[in-house]
Amino acid sequence: MCCIVAYVVQREAYPILIYGLKRLEYRGYDSSGLSLLNGKLREFKRKGKVQDLVNFVKGKNVSGSMGIAHTRWATHGKPDDINAHPHQSGNGRLTLIHNGIIENYAALKTALLQEGHVFQSETDTEVLVHLIEELQTRSNLPLEEAVRVALTKVIGAYAIVVMDERDPGKLVAARKASPLVIGIGDGEFFLASDATPIVEHTQKVVYLNDEEIAVVTRDGELQIKDIGNEIKMPYIQQLDLKIESLGKGDYEHFMLKEIYEQPNTIADCMRGRINAAEGWIKLGGVDQVQERIAQSKRFIMAACGTSWHAALIGEYLFEELARIPVEVEYASELRYRNPIIDREDVVVALSQSGETADTMAALELAKEKGALIYGIVNNVGSSIARLTDAGSYIHAGPEIGVASTKAFTGQVTLLTMMAISLGYQRGTIPKSYYFQLLEELERIPGKVAKVLESDTQIRYIASEIKDANNALYLGRGYNFPIALEGALKLKEISYIHAEGYPAAEMKHGPIALIDENMPVVVIATNKSAYEKVVSNIQEVKARKGIVIAIVTEGDKIISSLADYSIAIPDTDEPLTPLLSVIPLQLLSYHIALMRGCNVDQPRNLAKSVTVE
Ligand code: M6R
Repeated sequence: MCCIVAYVVQREAYPILIYGLKRLEYRGYDSSGLSLLNGKLREFKRKGKVQDLVNFVKGKNVSGSMGIAHTRWATHGKPDDINAHPHQSGNGRLTLIHNGIIENYAALKTALLQEGHVFQSETDTEVLVHLIEELQTRSNLPLEEAVRVALTKVIGAYAIVVMDERDPGKLVAARKASPLVIGIGDGEFFLASDATPIVEHTQKVVYLNDEEIAVVTRDGELQIKDIGNEIKMPYIQQLDLKIESLGKGDYEHFMLKEIYEQPNTIADCMRGRINAAEGWIKLGGVDQVQERIAQSKRFIMAACGTSWHAALIGEYLFEELARIPVEVEYASELRYRNPIIDREDVVVALSQSGETADTMAALELAKEKGALIYGIVNNVGSSIARLTDAGSYIHAGPEIGVASTKAFTGQVTLLTMMAISLGYQRGTIPKSYYFQLLEELERIPGKVAKVLESDTQIRYIASEIKDANNALYLGRGYNFPIALEGALKLKEISYIHAEGYPAAEMKHGPIALIDENMPVVVIATNKSAYEKVVSNIQEVKARKGIVIAIVTEGDKIISSLADYSIAIPDTDEPLTPLLSVIPLQLLSYHIALMRGCNVDQPRNLAKSVTVE
């Protein structure tokens, strides 16, 4: 949620830190701050965007070759200058940035207040820096040891970096359940929540593991210990990330760029994994655990938000094509409800970031119960990717817009390949249908490109409904999860209240909401329930609702009933979601833009939800 970035030691730290904050701003953006060390600590903090911090700092002394910086997504205490990170110890010598939540902060704070500590902010983070100070001064401990002992007393999640004015040659960092990457440069180190600010400087990185503490020094040393004080060998990896993929290119927003990337990202997800001419699908992750999968009695898919919608499509795909029973779970519910999971289950975690706290916790629980854990993840090297027994990356490249688009189609592409492959192996789909689906899957990137050509028409429809206060999204079968996803996209970036429903459920409640002011988006490309969807549209029209229909090219009936219709190319029904979601992404993008909303960084949201 928050992001941290720190630098030691060759050059001026300030420009490196600001560049890093801008790269990471998508992870949290309600306030930001930094501390620089040049003999003395200097701290600058500001409510608002990183640019507000830059404006505030203008003309001030920002020299120093060591520093830490942070953008915040508020949990404890409102977003303001005081609650912004870094936080200082009472004696002003230590400064700390933190991503995560210290759950037992209240008890720790009470004890520290009794020792005479005085706090400036409402944050849980400030308690941790005072605790480190208390241990350091009371027992005369070196910084890294004080950090280690303090962390043994902490319950919660953290990625932290600490700097000590009296010990100017080093930074101490630690993580538990919140990501932290260390970039190793030529005599310099870069620490950050993810690799996006690091790749500019070095390709060599170490991903810190849970309960590990790293010390990086001015002399170019990197030492890692665990919280039990055992020395660990740093595992240095090469980054596979291109700087160009981190920019907006010629697009006005990351979200628009990512929507338009989808013909390529879907093709990248399939590259080397399917070949229709030769009739094969090959997923390395599945091959690795083929036997366990063959013996499994059901799949459980766990995810949050948009990834949960992809999982729901997975349920339809796996059950129809491979006849494998699937349960789809909100990770946040699964983790707390003592679920029945055992060795015969495969638990599939879907996550763009690979860092979502709820999804990670659900996986840990499933792992304890002996299930096979399979990850479908975008962010290479992320915590979830490392926690799984096997998995497949979706290869969508960095997704920076907070509203997920290309990661969703990547997840659905991957699930589709898995379901077709398992269906064929299990003999639940005939050979001819298997070949047909493979050929059609290879045509999907081209068909997505065709849908994107409707952009001008979609922009016009957006201008017609942009002032609505509510919207309803309806779909059946494979298009029901698409209705949920369309509604989520609209609400998260345009702040219009929207609900997704199975079309037939409308008459059991939501129909009461329909009047001449209610746009109803009906995803009506189904072949199997076509007449039923036509009836649903009639019901909406009878109540004067405004119907925006997503139809299959050549459809005359629904197009004549709807107020607006957007045609997508015909495809096999299990592959429809990959096409039908695209107009809904564009619709929400244009509506949000017309309403003057910040499309890439919508209010109250963060890209990566690393707290509960
Ligand atoms: O990184 P993840 O896929 O685990 O994230 C899950 C959700 O937080 C995420 O999909 C969220 O719902 C997005 N803002 C949707 O656009």
